[in-house]
Parts: sequence; C-alpha cells; structure tokens
Amino acid sequence: MTDPVDVSKLDAPTLASHLAKPDGATGIAVSAGLNKTNEGPYRVARAKLALAAADNLLEIGFGNGHEIAALLAAAADVTYTGIDISETMVAEAKRRNAVAVEAGVVTLLHAASDKLPLAAAVFDKALALNTIYFWRDPAVDLGEIRRVLRPGGRLVLGAIAPWSTSRPVFRHGFTFYSPEQLTALLQAAGFADVAIETLVDIYITSEGEHLPRDYFIVSAT
Ligand SMILES: C[S@@+](CC[C@H](N)C(=O)[O-])C[C@H]1O[C@@H](n2cnc3c(N)ncnc32)[C@H](O)[C@@H]1O
Repeated sequence: MTDPVDVSKLDAPTLASHLAKPDGATGIAVSAGLNKTNEGPYRVARAKLALAAADNLLEIGFGNGHEIAALLAAAADVTYTGIDISETMVAEAKRRNAVAVEAGVVTLLHAASDKLPLAAAVFDKALALNTIYFWRDPAVDLGEIRRVLRPGGRLVLGAIAPWSTSRPVFRHGFTFYSPEQLTALLQAAGFADVAIETLVDIYITSEGEHLPRDYFIVSAT
C-alpha cells in the first residue's frame, strides 16, 4: 500500500504545479484540500449564477468535481458540461458524479479553455473559479467562453485579489489580475456588463492555517 500524500509537506513549486494541473495521487490530495478552501467562493458564485430551470451550464476547471452536485441542485433540470486540462481530475470528477454522468445530465471533457470543443451559443451560464491564473493569454480563453455562451449569457469568474497572494506557492506559475485588468479583459472579449464584488474570505492553506483573503467574484454578461 502507498503512503497517503501529506499535502502540507509539498514544496511550493510542487504544490503550485498540482494547483495548475492536479496529477496522480498527489493531485487528488491537493484537489481534496481545495474543496474546503474554496467552499465560500463557490457558495457566492452559485448565488451570482442565479441558475434557472433548464439552464445549460459550463464550468471551466472543475477540479475533482465536488461542487457539481450543488450546482445541479440549484435549479430544476440543469445540465452541466465541465472541461479540465487534468486527466486525473476528469477521472476523479466522473467517479464522484457517476450517476449524473450516466444519466447524461453531466458531461466531463478533457480539454483546455483556450480551445473549447463546444458549439457556439449553447450555454446559458458559465463558471470559472481559480483557473484564470493559469491561462497564458486570458483574452483567448475569455473569447472562447463568450463564443459558447448564448447572447446575454452570464459568466461568473472567481479569483484571489493580487494583494492577498504573498504565500510562496503563488510565485510559481500564477498570474493575478486587478479589478481594472479583469474588467478590461472581459470587455475586450465581448462582455458589455461587468460587475466585481470583493468577498472577504477565510480560507484554509495546505498547511492547515486559516487565513483571510480578498477574493473577487466577477459577474459578466
Ligand atoms: C486551482 S484548481 C481549481 C479547482 C476548482 N475550480 C476550485 O476553485 O476549487 C484549477 C483547476 O483548473 C484546471 N485548469 C487549469 N488551467 C485550465 C485550462 N486552461 N482549461 C481547463 N482547465 C484548466 C486544473 O486542471 C484544475 O483542475
């Protein structure tokens, strides 16, 4: 039997690489930690999405798929499509949501946000929490999300405020954006109406510390 992964012992570059793309047993352990860390932002993002009956929802970067059940429960007959670049996360999310996948209510794809394997104008809502940090050219990814949303469709995007990122892990492969930068990127991608709320959130680090952070919940149509 292999030893369980102790996420608190990972060095900053290793932890960062599994946040950007969780892989194998270490990736599964890191993603499980995120379920607690990002519970607050997901709760607020769900409210902002304002899912309505029969909405077709897209999520970018679903991690282990822990939040999918709550998204489906937010309104009647919601259908969910998720894409993630991590094969480990696609498998893990399929395992967790096997009944909904089998029923055709949830579709989970191994794909990247800069090239969505999806038809134009098919989604009512889109959600992307804690993934914009890893997009090489967010203008491309946001353009792709706008393309697959119906006219008037809403994107809810979540990201840590740049001034709440002093931990060493954030120095390895993350890019953080100010509200002005997020607004400019979203407007350039075709979202006319952008609103940013700053959530004051207590989150749990991989070492088990409880720390305050400012967290942006962006709503764009
Ligand atoms: C830090 S985790 C966040 C997981 C979850 N959304 C949360 O907030 O707890 C980032 C997730 O986004 C995925 N990801 C990163 N870049 C991506 C991209 N360009 N397209 C799709 N998924 C991506 C990673 O594989 C990982 O599952």
